[in-house]
Amino acid sequence: MTGFARRAERVEPSAIREFLSLAGDPAITSFAGGYPDATLFPIEELHQIYADLLTRGSAGALQYTASEGLPQLRALVAQRLTADGMPCTAEDVLITQGGQQGLDLTAKLFIDAGDVIVTERPTFLGAIIAFNPYEPRYRSVPIDDEGMDTDALQQVLRTTERVKVIYTVPDYQNPTGQTMSLTRRTRLVELAEEFDAVILEDTPYRELRYEGQRLPTIKSLDRTGRVVHLGSFSKILAPGLRLGWALSSPEVRDKLALLKLAADTQNGTLNMRAAADYLSRFDLEGHIASMLPTYRHQRDLMLTMLEEHFPDGTTWTRARGGLFTWVTFPEGLDMARFQRDLLIPRAGVIVVPGAPFFAVQPESNHARMSFSGVPDDRIVAGVSAMGALLHEALSG
Ligand SMILES: Cc1ncc(COP(=O)(O)O)c(C=O)c1O
Repeated sequence: MTGFARRAERVEPSAIREFLSLAGDPAITSFAGGYPDATLFPIEELHQIYADLLTRGSAGALQYTASEGLPQLRALVAQRLTADGMPCTAEDVLITQGGQQGLDLTAKLFIDAGDVIVTERPTFLGAIIAFNPYEPRYRSVPIDDEGMDTDALQQVLRTTERVKVIYTVPDYQNPTGQTMSLTRRTRLVELAEEFDAVILEDTPYRELRYEGQRLPTIKSLDRTGRVVHLGSFSKILAPGLRLGWALSSPEVRDKLALLKLAADTQNGTLNMRAAADYLSRFDLEGHIASMLPTYRHQRDLMLTMLEEHFPDGTTWTRARGGLFTWVTFPEGLDMARFQRDLLIPRAGVIVVPGAPFFAVQPESNHARMSFSGVPDDRIVAGVSAMGALLHEALSG
């Protein structure tokens, strides 16, 4: 087939799709998924809510609604954002199909072909997939224990023309698990002001906090309306609902809402109604708190196992929240090849090799490992088997 638009050249299957299909095989131990633990979904409560919605003759739950989202849900999200230091009203909130749609719409709004998006290095693969059709150029800045390196960012901003958007996942980043310090958050806002860039703040893991202080969002430090703040119910309620939100200045919100109208008219009314009912009838904060010990335990067990079994010269991050640790192997170890030739055939384990998480200049000696939803015995057996193979590969 010919005649595709130029942007179609940037639409390619992700390199990880092939082996992610293995994740459903019961013989495989998967540290590759980014899924929340399905055993933690509030299934009883949601069952009750959907049953009520569909039996009480509330046909409104099946009707069209505003493309900005169900007013009741926008108001409840605004209440939560206000409580998190971002005073706002229902009108400021746009409901999206998960955080992912917020990434797409924001890029659609700000990026012309050739404009620059700055990402962390590494960054969320799904964001690169969302941005690519708008034909951006990328620059990337390293991320460390304090999050995005703002000195490196300043250097990039000084030396690069047409930086439109700075994309960051400041809380328990995907894939590294790292968190941006308050000093760097403040500095990031200053730099965005100085160089007139938009900050796209993506926070799906923000509430999965296992230790440390809750830090102010970047949006809460924004005095000039240049932050688009994205959030999601995927990790705190259930990703299948496809519900997220964008908080931005009224001007940006209006344009994002029109782009959303063009893309999909609105989110499903039924799911928005169900989420609104969940928030008003049940205790979401209590539900989140009840999930944290499970994730914290899974994280701790994985980190202990890495310590015991992974060879010297291998390092990993200690995420204070979220679902991931990022492992760095000695240079020269190509994780994709190691996985294909040794890890899958000999240990039945999969991880996500790190290269696709780099917007530019991919590095092959990393892996993202998720502890979410993996039973204890599998974490123990999987990490130790992987460690043994790493010793073998590195000594050979
Ligand atoms: C950093 C980040 N942003 C956005 C998303 C999109 O999630 P959703 O569309 O389910 O809200 C994810 C999902 O894994 C993510 O890790």
